[in-house]
Amino acid sequence: MNILSPSILSADFWKLGEQIRELEQAGVTYLHVDVMDGLFVPSISYGMPVIASIRKGTDLFFDVHLMIEKPERYIADFAKSGADLINFHIEATKHIEETIAQIHRAGKKAGITIKPGTPASAAEPYLELVDMVLVMTVEPGFGGQKLIPECLEKVTLIRKMADEKGLDLDIEVDGGINTDNVESAVLAGANVIVAGSAIFRDNVTENVKAFLKKL
Ligand code: DX5
Ligand code: ZN
Repeated sequence: MNILSPSILSADFWKLGEQIRELEQAGVTYLHVDVMDGLFVPSISYGMPVIASIRKGTDLFFDVHLMIEKPERYIADFAKSGADLINFHIEATKHIEETIAQIHRAGKKAGITIKPGTPASAAEPYLELVDMVLVMTVEPGFGGQKLIPECLEKVTLIRKMADEKGLDLDIEVDGGINTDNVESAVLAGANVIVAGSAIFRDNVTENVKAFLKKL
């Protein structure tokens, strides 16, 4: 069963609670939460207080995507604020194994993320250690961009590596996914699908239903 993880980066923050409720009622189980620090990526989004606040109102699984330099500095804080899974970029730290261990010690699922320019081979040494690999299908930093199709080839490579190692690994794709290209992402080997602008434009319930039909 493939999973849809709507990214609240494209939500209307005036109505954030209402929109999360609408996602739940439409059958969503995961929420993708993008954290940007203005250093690792050019933009700044939101952080612990927002996560802690929405945590009070929902039992959705919080799939937190850290786009921050030296993520090891903040793992305990994000765990405490209510993350269920913490993804960090391997390009953002020298301490990859230690950061994975820190996430697990906090009792959370751990994911590593790779940018479009980072090869699949860079993730390979960590596959046994993590619960998820997040393969970015756009340059991280902004919602509403177009999917880079070559990134899906890395999904296939990582799925093959995981299968060869006998690992039951989640592979998530993030960036530019819509109902027209989601099937190609699943076919490539992804089982967790992030979508931001394609969920929050126009009618959220209808968009979720259209995605779920294709998963
Ligand atoms: C981009 C973020 C994404 C973003 C996806 O840096 O990691 O999660 O919200 O938005 P769409 O689906 O609009 O590309
Ligand atoms: Zn993301």
